[in-house]
Amino acid sequence: TTTADSSLKQLPFPFGAAISAELLRTDPRYKALIIREFKSISTENAMKFGIIHPLENTYNWTDGDEIVAFAQANCIRVHGHTLNWYQDAPDWLKNFDGDKNAWENLLKTHIQTIVKHYKGKVTSWDVVNEAFEDDGRYRNSIWVQKLGTDYIARAFQYAHEADPVALLFYNDYGQEYGYEYKGLKRNAILALVNELKSRGVPINGIGLQMHTKYTQSDFDISLAISTAAETGLKVHISELDVALNPNFDATLTFSPSLDEMQASKYKAIVKLYNAIPKAQQFGITTWNVTDKDSWVPVFFKRPDWPLPFNADYHRKAAYRGIFDGLK
Ligand code: G3I
Repeated sequence: TTTADSSLKQLPFPFGAAISAELLRTDPRYKALIIREFKSISTENAMKFGIIHPLENTYNWTDGDEIVAFAQANCIRVHGHTLNWYQDAPDWLKNFDGDKNAWENLLKTHIQTIVKHYKGKVTSWDVVNEAFEDDGRYRNSIWVQKLGTDYIARAFQYAHEADPVALLFYNDYGQEYGYEYKGLKRNAILALVNELKSRGVPINGIGLQMHTKYTQSDFDISLAISTAAETGLKVHISELDVALNPNFDATLTFSPSLDEMQASKYKAIVKLYNAIPKAQQFGITTWNVTDKDSWVPVFFKRPDWPLPFNADYHRKAAYRGIFDGLK
């Protein structure tokens, strides 16, 4: 059982959370909790295209640099999110007018400027995020439109050239979705990473975002983790949260029974993850720190409590569940 001296730093693999530069600046309890509990952090928004590269010839390092300096001062690993995505394009990018060569150059310059800026400070990157639809087709993103689907391989090459020791991940959600999705997205992702590997493209890992819910079956979660591990790549549970209100009940309140059911799901996930080979365990990262800063209630406009810490920064049953997963 956990005690006041417990810390998630004691887990046998790095455990962390996606963090916000704004909260780090303004909320001392948030900051203290991160220092006490986490060996790893991901940048929630600070390194996304629209924030870090707001104009064609302007990079804005403010938030990213603050997070990195904080992490270095506290011996916390930094995972950079994300060098390429279909979302969060600034207006200049949406309106960029150029031929295929110009787009390739844009992608390369964007990736290499950022990776070089953080070389030696950011251990690993989500190079490409969410390239697939839930049915396994490529998203018709601006990158596919301008460069074709091989933009993915190029993005990994460009990042590797800029920092040959950084660990490079493909990151996506829904790899644990159930039978109704027929494994289409998972299979598309596995096919992609296996193809990249066989072509010698520098990819080191798969990110399973795992924005999940307490009713998701352990079988499906197990399938996502074990098939990712079978590729031989590192596996990062990269954006974990366990929603308690997937049916959008506007009147739902948090209760001891929900607390316990959530703990069971966190426990199951840790247990399955801990069973893959050590060398492939990159770590588990929750998406946000406490129920107060979770993206879930905001995005889905419903009450929810998806994280191991409550709005008062206290450990929930899920915190104990994480440790129980090691037994
Ligand atoms: O900072 C502005 C604020 O000034 C403004 O008043 C407010 C009004 O809309 O918006 C604020 O920006 C928001 C930002 O979060 C910071 O809170 C953006 O609108 C909002 O779109 C943005 O949402 C983020 C979302 O990605 C889109 O980038 C979430 O915080 C972030 O948690 C979420 O993270 C994604 C991962 O990157 C990829 N996987 C899924 C995950 C959850 O959606």
